[in-house]
Amino acid sequence: MVETSKSKSKKEVSGEEIVIKTIEELPGVGPAIAAKLKEAGYGELEAIAVASPTELSTAADIPESTAAKIVKSAREALKMDFETADKILERRKAIGRITTGSKSLDQLLGGGVETQAITEVYGEFGSGKTQLAHQLAINVQLPRNKGGLEGKAIYIDTEATFRPERIHQIASSMGLDPKEVLSNIFHARAHTTYHQMLLAEKAEELVRREEVKLIVIDSLTTHFRSEFVGRGMLAERQQKLNKHLHTLQTLADKYNLAVLVTNQVMARPDMFFGDPTAPVGGHVLAHQATAIIYLRKSKGGRRIARLVDSPYLPEGEAMFRITEKGITD
Ligand code: GTP
Ligand code: MG
Repeated sequence: MVETSKSKSKKEVSGEEIVIKTIEELPGVGPAIAAKLKEAGYGELEAIAVASPTELSTAADIPESTAAKIVKSAREALKMDFETADKILERRKAIGRITTGSKSLDQLLGGGVETQAITEVYGEFGSGKTQLAHQLAINVQLPRNKGGLEGKAIYIDTEATFRPERIHQIASSMGLDPKEVLSNIFHARAHTTYHQMLLAEKAEELVRREEVKLIVIDSLTTHFRSEFVGRGMLAERQQKLNKHLHTLQTLADKYNLAVLVTNQVMARPDMFFGDPTAPVGGHVLAHQATAIIYLRKSKGGRRIARLVDSPYLPEGEAMFRITEKGITD
């Protein structure tokens, strides 16, 4: 039986927290084998993990025993093992929730914005996505009995709409020390999709060093939309978006933190078909974002939030307001 070698390699991977991200890092893959794998179209861990040893051996011209080891390590690296439901329940018990500042919006979300998940907020301009992001970057810092997670926030800003003055204003009105609140928010401008993806990857360092419990990306899709224009680039755009979301989801799971991404609606006056209020990224995002909230403006400065897609919460709506003091009922 291979029982002993199995448990040994498992220990190496998960026990000592060796994180394998590229095929070069797989045990037994040297530069020559890596090159063969790439040439045969197995440049990603995912591709190897779903391959059979025979298939890999033939395609990349490597011995089957080597291929078997590589496939096994790729599967372990991606944690493709089954896991018992009680373990999942245990992990879900650790899920934290950040209050939005509005009781009705919190209720809609099952208690607030969840950790271990990506929450997507989409809506037209001025619907309050950025305001909600600002508010959450403050609220995550609150003590647990006040709806926070006693954590810090990372704010990746693609549209240059982050306003420290607004943080200061809301924090003061909440009776918090605005300087301290501001010092617990790590802000970065992302200038391109590449830059944005790199920032998400580099965030792990910061997350590990600081007690980060929220990562905001405002907005997730601006750069993707402007850089990948036209039908011909749609597949590549989705592929990149997927990879980016995968990075974010991994951080959310590994560090039990919340990820909030904002998204515009597709304003396509040139389009005769389709839903003009559909979020950019469409279905791909629906599979990754755990809760999707659609925001829209209503009369008298009110905002309506609709829970569009959640694996376990009922659909519904909540009403809230944006005031000088931030988000309230
Ligand atoms: P885009 O990024 O353009 O797609 O919009 P968005 O959804 O991010 O909108 P954002 O969160 O920037 O909302 C802007 C709106 O919030 C404004 O139109 C105001 O109605 C409201 N708002 C922002 N700051 C204040 C404030 O200090 N006081 C009040 N009362 N409302 C504010
Ligand atoms: Mg905005």
